[in-house]
Amino acid sequence: MNIKTKLDGPELPIILHRGTMHEINIMLNGEPRVANVEPRLLLTDFLRHSLGATGTHVGCEHGVCGACTVRIDGVAQRACLTLAVQCAGRRVDTIEGLAGDQHPLGDLQMAFKRHHALQCGFCTAGILMSCADWLERPHMAVPTETEVREMLSGHLCRCTGYAPIVAAVLDVAQARALARKTAGEPGHA
Ligand code: FES
Ligand code: FES
Repeated sequence: MNIKTKLDGPELPIILHRGTMHEINIMLNGEPRVANVEPRLLLTDFLRHSLGATGTHVGCEHGVCGACTVRIDGVAQRACLTLAVQCAGRRVDTIEGLAGDQHPLGDLQMAFKRHHALQCGFCTAGILMSCADWLERPHMAVPTETEVREMLSGHLCRCTGYAPIVAAVLDVAQARALARKTAGEPGHA
């Protein structure tokens, strides 16, 4: 198996053999974690079964539904399409760490609650992790509803009809833009 990983320093393609175990270090929600994993172990199974981070859900297991979305080095990624060994030396953020200092709920989670943007909640963790990445990217202005819907197009929700999710994301985007403007950040006159 030819895998791009940072197991032993710089990111290089290395050969990992089936059935062998490899020690990996990851930073999970800001906490260092070490574990021995087989090369074939998916990040979803690693998070849920090895590290107990069961907030990451598994739906389709082939990159379509978005339920398994986590952030790897800040970027939203499908955990069901990622091997645990590919995360060696990286930061992995899951829903368990989303609130951060705003514990127990961050502004995104509060907005979802306010707008009733979840019902069964199966899709919610993945959507929140995508939103968290997207809303932190440099935006010249508050995103439009169309842009929010495009961002959400990588996620399937069978319950809500998406409208309350869009409203929650726009709510947070507007609140953050106002906060940046109040703080006098450049580009937000
Ligand atoms: S479980 Fe990963 S995209 Fe559906
Ligand atoms: S809230 Fe049930 S799938 Fe989205």
